[in-house]
Amino acid sequence: MRVAVIGPGAIGAVVTAALERAGHAVVLCGRRPLDRIVVEQPDGGEHVIAATPVLADPAQAPGRLDWILLATKTTQNAAAAAWLRALAGPASVVAVLQNGVEHRENVEPLAGGAAVLPVIVWVGSETVADGRVVQRSGLRLSVPDDEHGSGLAGIFGAVAQVDRVADFTTEAWRKLCLNAVAGILPVVRRRGEVFRDERVAGLTRAYAAECVAVARAAGAQLGEEDAVSIAEGMIAMPPDSGTSILFDRLAGRPMEWDTRNGIIQRTGARHGVPTPVSDVLVPVLAALDTAP
Ligand SMILES: NC(=O)c1ccc[n+]([C@@H]2O[C@H](COP(=O)([O-])OP(=O)(O)OC[C@H]3O[C@@H](n4cnc5c(N)ncnc54)[C@H](OP(=O)(O)O)[C@@H]3O)[C@@H](O)[C@H]2O)c1
Repeated sequence: MRVAVIGPGAIGAVVTAALERAGHAVVLCGRRPLDRIVVEQPDGGEHVIAATPVLADPAQAPGRLDWILLATKTTQNAAAAAWLRALAGPASVVAVLQNGVEHRENVEPLAGGAAVLPVIVWVGSETVADGRVVQRSGLRLSVPDDEHGSGLAGIFGAVAQVDRVADFTTEAWRKLCLNAVAGILPVVRRRGEVFRDERVAGLTRAYAAECVAVARAAGAQLGEEDAVSIAEGMIAMPPDSGTSILFDRLAGRPMEWDTRNGIIQRTGARHGVPTPVSDVLVPVLAALDTAP
């Protein structure tokens, strides 16, 4: 089995480390030739990635591979398309390890006829310095319960928990609702402590209810109790912690607002579900992202 990972960041490094522990010789592709990447693991151990230096030029690609795991931010897909062109063909599977619910729509046009497998990633990991990634929890992935989902589970073997879920639509929307609600943080440029403010907590509850209403219209089996647990989980987050969309904002990087928040507004419009919170939040996130 020949496997490539595109995007040697927080998720790409964790996934590459896991694949190497499972015995694979991974082709690791980025945009800079990093020559050392260390993953600090939840048990305190360290994995030094063997697949370095990171390949930085698609001309170095070894040809079409069986599996390509795409772990860039959704905002970087267009730039990563050159890697997909070099690595993916009709016999390949491109597993998209990104937040959102549009994995297929966004990546199929770039995938050279390869099958696209949407993957929901449940792990906390962070690049704390160039070439150093901290993995805070075990690697858990959710995939559709189909041939390619089983294929991905087989590649990871025992080194990751790969859940084949019958109702992938619900799983993907549940994660998206969580991610969407976290979009409040970059607007106020504050960490979890901001939820101690009852007005912000109220906004969070209203937004979670809106996200779940849209998710239901899109076919997800989520109910009012899910909206409550999404909102209360966010409100209860540790005061000094944040989420990746806040960290992107603080670092001046593009934010994944369209695939995490714009999608709620767009899907609501398609199904006639009112989205009053999105109608304010999405233009503000977009404006923050394009600020000079
Ligand atoms: N981190 C988490 O805990 C977490 C959890 C669940 C889901 N997710 C989702 O997983 C996805 C990946 O997130 P992440 O946190 O791993 O992001 P990240 O740390 O920013 O990693 C993205 C990687 O892609 C690389 N890249 C950028 N442009 C590229 C190109 N043209 N070709 C190849 N590589 C390129 C970046 O390189 P540079 O370093 O040069 O920019 C970086 O190494 C996102 O959709 C995120 O929302 C993340």
